[in-house]
Amino acid sequence: MNILIIGAGGREHTFAWKLAQSPKCNRLFVAPGNAGTAQIATNLAIGVNDFQGIKTAVVENDIELVVVGPEDPLVNGIHDFFLNDEALKSVMVIGPREQAAQLEGSKEFAKEFMKANNIPTAQYASFTADTLEEGISFLSQMKAPYVLKADGLAAGKGVLIIDDLTEAQAQLKEMLVDEKFGAASKTVVIEEFLDGIELSCFVLTDGKDFVTFPMAKDYKRIGEGDTGLNTGGMGAISPVPFVTPAFEQKIHERIVLPTIEGFEKGNLPFQGFVFIGLIKVGDDPFVIEYNVRMGDPETEVVLPLIKNDFVELLTATAKGELSTQTIDIDQRTATTVMLVSGGYPEAYAKGKEMQGLTIETNSILFHAGTQLKEDKVITSGGRVMAVTSLGSDFKEGLRQSYATIEKISFEGMDYRKDLGFDL
Ligand code: AMP
Ligand code: GLY
Repeated sequence: MNILIIGAGGREHTFAWKLAQSPKCNRLFVAPGNAGTAQIATNLAIGVNDFQGIKTAVVENDIELVVVGPEDPLVNGIHDFFLNDEALKSVMVIGPREQAAQLEGSKEFAKEFMKANNIPTAQYASFTADTLEEGISFLSQMKAPYVLKADGLAAGKGVLIIDDLTEAQAQLKEMLVDEKFGAASKTVVIEEFLDGIELSCFVLTDGKDFVTFPMAKDYKRIGEGDTGLNTGGMGAISPVPFVTPAFEQKIHERIVLPTIEGFEKGNLPFQGFVFIGLIKVGDDPFVIEYNVRMGDPETEVVLPLIKNDFVELLTATAKGELSTQTIDIDQRTATTVMLVSGGYPEAYAKGKEMQGLTIETNSILFHAGTQLKEDKVITSGGRVMAVTSLGSDFKEGLRQSYATIEKISFEGMDYRKDLGFDL
């Protein structure tokens, strides 16, 4: 069948790499894609929120399966757009319907969902400009650090963790009244701070049945020792060494099962990936957030561990037949190290030519922010490339990724050299 992937990052290159391995994949397209996807698929110059452009491409190219990478088009209702269109309604779409995508699109919606389904998460209350004064006095009753979350999508920047009460109160006002994060911070969720180590759990569901993928841990901060600004993710490891069978069982019983049951109970049509951001507090898992898509760079370590035919798995998901599938997992550990442009996540240069990409290596190079310029690969984003390796444990995987990175270069290239330091 002909397949279209929507998105342009390392996650989408990994989807393309995995789908292209299936004998069931005929022609593969990525919109808009990057220099990596161009090697194994046809890139289409269409933006992820250009639904009309996507429709034209789907019809022209006889596409039967659409895999949506990022959250934006999902929150904007791309799945519903397909279902409401005569020409598109029989096309399979991987990604939740608009209503269910609110789990990522609105933190308040996600918290209410967790409360309704008894899913462990931080205590919270939410406020708007009309209830600013209540929010300010609510903060003064809480203990530091204060966690303030813009309700809507804010490109990963909408969460503030502040030690000082006066500063937290001032920021609450900035978010609500001055719309610090635009419309996204018209509502702010204030949460209890949870102290622990984070990890992520990935589930593929057809809305009633599901399969679980290996867990992953990503490294969000730019600086070594988890310091400095937050990024989209500087690297990842899967599976997670500190997840014991007993802890995994708790995640399954207390979080995954009630989440999937919650979709049915709450009438939230969900055919796609659920990314559950978790924190381990003592020996117990709590949900930090839901995302309605795969993570990036977590995809770059999770998919290489899945042995199943990915077209078969996604087709079963779209048809509501996931109960027929069993997941087959590679027992090795996958690691990925993200190469970024110097300066990222603040201002950085683009258009730098990359060298060393044709080297012999045991790693897999998943392109993120790259573009083709004539026959050269140039940088076009902050996160440029994820270097993934498999090993008997995470140390061996990382050794391989770092050895591969020695051979790759571009002006200003940066990466974290301490992944796994906390494990
Ligand atoms: P979120 O966008 O909700 O995932 O939040 C971004 C990051 O903020 C998370 O990955 C955590 O590191 C941190 N965070 C969010 N909520 C909490 C919380 N209640 N307690 C501690 N850290 C949090
Ligand atoms: N790596 C975190 C995310 O994809 O949101």
